[in-house]
Amino acid sequence: MAETEVSAAERLAVLRTEIAEHNRRYYEESAPTIADRDYDRLYRELLDLESHYPQLIMADSPSRLIGGRSQKAFSQIAHRAPMLSLDNTYSEDEVGAFYRRLEKLLPNEKIPVVVEPKVDGVAISLLYEKGRLRYAATRGDGVTGEDVSQNIRTIRSVPQQLKGEAPKLLEVRGEVFMTKDGFAKLNADRSEAGLPVFANPRNSAAGSLKQLDPAITAQRPLGVVFYGTGVVEGIEITRHSQLFPLLKKWGLPGSELWWKADSLGQILERIHELDKLRHNFPYETDGAVVKVDAFAQRESLGMTAKSPRWAMAFKYEAERVETKLLDILIQVGRTGTLTPVAALQPVVVSGSTVARATLHNEDEIKRKDIRIGDTVVIEKAGEVIPAVVSVRTDLRDGAEKEFGMPSKCPICGSKVVKEEGQVAVRCVNAQCPAQLKRRIEHFAGRGAMDIEGLGEAMVEQLVARDLVREVSDIYSLTSKGLNELERMGEKSVANLLEGIELSKRQPLWRLLFGLGILHVGVSAARALADYFSNLDELMAASADELQRIPDVGEVVGASILQFFREPGNREMIAKLRGAGVRLTSDPKAATATDSQIKGTTWVITGTLGQPREELAELIRQRGGKVSGSVSKKTSFLLAGEEAGSKLEKAKKLGIKVVAEEEFRRLLAS
Ligand code: IVH
Repeated sequence: MAETEVSAAERLAVLRTEIAEHNRRYYEESAPTIADRDYDRLYRELLDLESHYPQLIMADSPSRLIGGRSQKAFSQIAHRAPMLSLDNTYSEDEVGAFYRRLEKLLPNEKIPVVVEPKVDGVAISLLYEKGRLRYAATRGDGVTGEDVSQNIRTIRSVPQQLKGEAPKLLEVRGEVFMTKDGFAKLNADRSEAGLPVFANPRNSAAGSLKQLDPAITAQRPLGVVFYGTGVVEGIEITRHSQLFPLLKKWGLPGSELWWKADSLGQILERIHELDKLRHNFPYETDGAVVKVDAFAQRESLGMTAKSPRWAMAFKYEAERVETKLLDILIQVGRTGTLTPVAALQPVVVSGSTVARATLHNEDEIKRKDIRIGDTVVIEKAGEVIPAVVSVRTDLRDGAEKEFGMPSKCPICGSKVVKEEGQVAVRCVNAQCPAQLKRRIEHFAGRGAMDIEGLGEAMVEQLVARDLVREVSDIYSLTSKGLNELERMGEKSVANLLEGIELSKRQPLWRLLFGLGILHVGVSAARALADYFSNLDELMAASADELQRIPDVGEVVGASILQFFREPGNREMIAKLRGAGVRLTSDPKAATATDSQIKGTTWVITGTLGQPREELAELIRQRGGKVSGSVSKKTSFLLAGEEAGSKLEKAKKLGIKVVAEEEFRRLLAS
């Protein structure tokens, strides 16, 4: 195992033991010995490490356990108060009918309502007891839902502990969403990797919540908006509008936008206003919810068979338009993936003109039976990427043409292959100009070598003028060649050259990611750079060795071997080396080799002057190990005040016990 994985494994062992112990004290003895904030820190650290090193997740990890039981599937949780659904309408007339009914049922009363966004995600109910998150459950049938606590805990905006004065009991309801940007990126990545794509952000949020492995959920860009409560004890809320500032106070994300209204005219005005603003939200919304503000009035209005009379959802029409599919074009990605793209008769959707829409892959086209010449229905999925939803087959005249993926790359004419079990078709020619452009854009991009001035337009010119035929050619660019390019003054040329020069010092992981090796993302690149001290070592590594590295499985390993076997790629590396691009890792964190701590194993217990994790870090920095439990292998026990069973055990085993003062002296040695 790489050094980083070894220390992650050790750290995880410490975290597992500590968290389990805190859980026991909290749940079984109701006598916690750690501040909630510190508990949350430990738990987050555990989740983070587990998401980086999924191979280190143990069956007994606190992240896998619910109340002491191993989580095989999701267990059921009964909601304290039922989760109701709303009556929906697309018609303003029905909103009018709704308000008139309120007036009829509450004659001579003012009926203030709140208008707020209807978030298009997955309904969730969280239970906070004395401010601490106990569990999170899906809506289920409204009476019982599924326990998705472990997954919800991975969402950063969900506090484990409420801020400020928390009520005794708070059942809080909201909607889990995937951000529009995150959704677009997730699908683009899945598409490039040949995986099936999600239909919309709501589906991918739902899929993310139902993961049995919280480490996967942790990687998804999820958030929550809270909009209501179930059972609440210990605080009196009498109006819905009181909830918004309370949520804020507790650190629970609520809707930023909401309005009070007390007439039908105002309600409709707000509904229209929201429709204009909602496209700027980071998440999808599909309507406005109108809710009676006063809980007393809600009480007297009561329920119909399945939904309350005091609320109604007005849904905005999904913005769909029809247009002609003029052609299906093929885009070639960085790794050679051929993506079919719809060329459309330009049309306005959600306020912008759309002339292109992704069709993802051949299977999608077949499934929807999309033919060139069809009249197609376009919608902005996730309000960002336009998608072809369906085909008006009734409008066909017989002239429509079925589409088949080309057997040759439309850009370079090389043959294309479809890998087994994958939906994606790839051009296998690494020299393909389309791939080259994407590769250079990727190499120079923010996440990789971060070369300022080397964006899409510049790359286009460089490739078109034959100034760059391979990534390494970037480093042979001179002001002479660049001066001839369009809109390149002396200053821009100098800036670009400086950007290129600076990139030579980028850390190895950025270069590894920038090379665009199939399946090597940022985390694999970081893991590789951590494991190997330089690129030569990596290039000489065997399949077995690669597989031992965290984040590098069989598929990634094979792809790395394949990449470096390619003579063209080896040549390119030689050129990068010749240009002075850095091919070595960061020196490992300085370990004081002469420290007395090096090579020793420590257990930390009792109350100390500094948080345990920090002390553990100090030991690790000096080449020591930290373990969660005392055993014969323990070299020292660092014992603070009120040290308990561990101290006894250490004494029994004859292990040297070190007080904090002595420990500090050792550190200094
Ligand atoms: S209130 C009885 N408020 O829409 C009231 N629901 O069709 C219960 N939703 O199951 C819900 N945004 O998942 C409420 N601001 C909002 C909402 C919202 C989205 C969802 C929720 C509910 C469904 C009802």
